[in-house]
Formats: sequence, structure tokens, C-alpha cells
Amino acid sequence: MPWDPIQYLRFNSERLRPALDLLAQVPLEIAEEIVDLGCGPGQIAKILKSRWPLALVTGVDRSLEMLEQAAASAPDIQWRQADLAEWRPDRPVDLIYANASLHWLNDHDTLFPRLMGYLNPGGYLAVQMPRNFDRASHQAVFEVAEAGPWSDRLRPLLRRNPVAEPEDYLGWLSPCAQHLELWQTDYLHLLEGPDPVAAWTKGSLLVPLMEALAEAERGPFLASYQRLLRAAYPPDASGRTPFWFRRFFMVAQL
Ligand SMILES: C[S@@+](CC[C@H](N)C(=O)[O-])C[C@H]1O[C@@H](n2cnc3c(N)ncnc32)[C@H](O)[C@@H]1O
Repeated sequence: MPWDPIQYLRFNSERLRPALDLLAQVPLEIAEEIVDLGCGPGQIAKILKSRWPLALVTGVDRSLEMLEQAAASAPDIQWRQADLAEWRPDRPVDLIYANASLHWLNDHDTLFPRLMGYLNPGGYLAVQMPRNFDRASHQAVFEVAEAGPWSDRLRPLLRRNPVAEPEDYLGWLSPCAQHLELWQTDYLHLLEGPDPVAAWTKGSLLVPLMEALAEAERGPFLASYQRLLRAAYPPDASGRTPFWFRRFFMVAQL
């Protein structure tokens, strides 16, 4: 089961909100070249293009399914398939924007300074990553992955703590940034429909795990996960499910 743009976009407005909150803090007036790293289905690259219409905007992602969805509606944006762990631009750019993607990569202590090195002087690195890994939505994934007959296969794929402490990013970015903003926001989403938290993580956190499971194992895995989530996330009186999601933001200027 590769990345599925339809599943991901099921919570589009909730997922878009932090992306726009990040963009609102980028005080770049003129840009010639912009990249959206881990662009997914491409809706944010389109927003970047409308904010800086004269800029060459490139969306980069590893998932062909995501890139196909992105390319279908935006011919004025370049789409590139690449692994972000190896990606580098052809020339320095004015803005590197990465919403909800860099937590899929390791070695942030070297990754973040390296990305700063791809900017033009005065350019910006703008990043948002989830910091929800200690909450029930994520802990239940780890619990079910460890408990079933699939544990040996899934254990190496578990990303229990992929985002470091804010102070770590401060230490890695301060030496190369003339200006730096870091902040964290806890969003309270009110999700609709049955088992909505499982539907949410199915579009993101669960993708590599579902891919590693045999088809016959996916149903039992999801059933155990949903059972844990029902206890942790009961619907409110209106039938909607409150879902706290903490996100960490950085805007660094070279
Ligand atoms: C949660 S989605 C975010 C998509 C988009 N930035 C957004 O905010 O809507 C994460 C994206 O990162 C991509 N991704 C994850 N690891 C990657 C890697 N190593 N190289 C390139 N893309 C990667 C996935 O394919 C997916 O499209």
C-alpha cells in the first residue's frame, strides 16, 4: 500500500491549516526559485505558486502516486521524483518549504544545516513537523506493531521519536541562520465519521507499516488499533471526535 492521495486528502482542511500557518511566517517578498520538499498531492506547491507567481516552483516527492495527483492540476509547477535524503537543488534557491515531510528523514543534525546551505543569501528554510509521537494516536500504533505476529517485520519501520527537542534544532540552525523563529502549536481537530483517528493515521503514519503487512494481516492490525483508539478518543456529544495534534515549526533565514 503506497501513499494514497485520496486517503491523505480526506482531512485536507485540518492538514492544510498548519501548512498555511507556516507560510504566514515567511516574510519573503520576491522569489525566483522555490522548492516544496515532500510536496505530497501538491496543494501547497500551488499555494506557493500563487503567492510568488513569478517564481519557478518545484515540488519534490518520492511517491509517484502523490506526484501524479499533483501534476494533474498544476502544469505551471515542476514536479520531481527524488528521495529527500539525497536531493540537492541544481542551484541555490530562495525558499525551501517542507510541511509534514522531514520527520520521515533521519539525521536532522546534519540534514537541517545542509538544507540551509542550499539557500541564496537572505533565503528561507520553512519547516513544520508533527510532534505527536507520545500521544495515544501514535503510541497505539507502536503497541499493536509490537504485539502481533508481524512484530519482527514492523519493528525496524517504527519511527518512535523522529523529531528532536526544539532546543536541538535551535542549536543546529543558530550557527547558520541570521534570523530564526521556532514555535509549537497544539491543534484541537474535531474529526467527523467512524474511527476518524485511524483514518487520519492511515493516510500518513501507517503507510509504511501497511505496505510491510500481508494483505490478510492489514484487517486484524487495523481492528486492534481501532479498538485502542476508541477508548482513547471517544466522540463528543455532537458525534465528532476531538483529536489533539502538536506541531513544531521553524523559519530560518540564511
Ligand atoms: C504527510 S505527507 C505531506 C505532504 C505535503 N507536504 C502536505 O503537507 O500536504 C508526507 C510526504 O512526504 C513524502 N516523503 C516521505 N519520505 C520521503 C523521502 N525520503 N523522500 C521524498 N519524499 C518523501 C511522502 O511521499 C509524502 O508525500
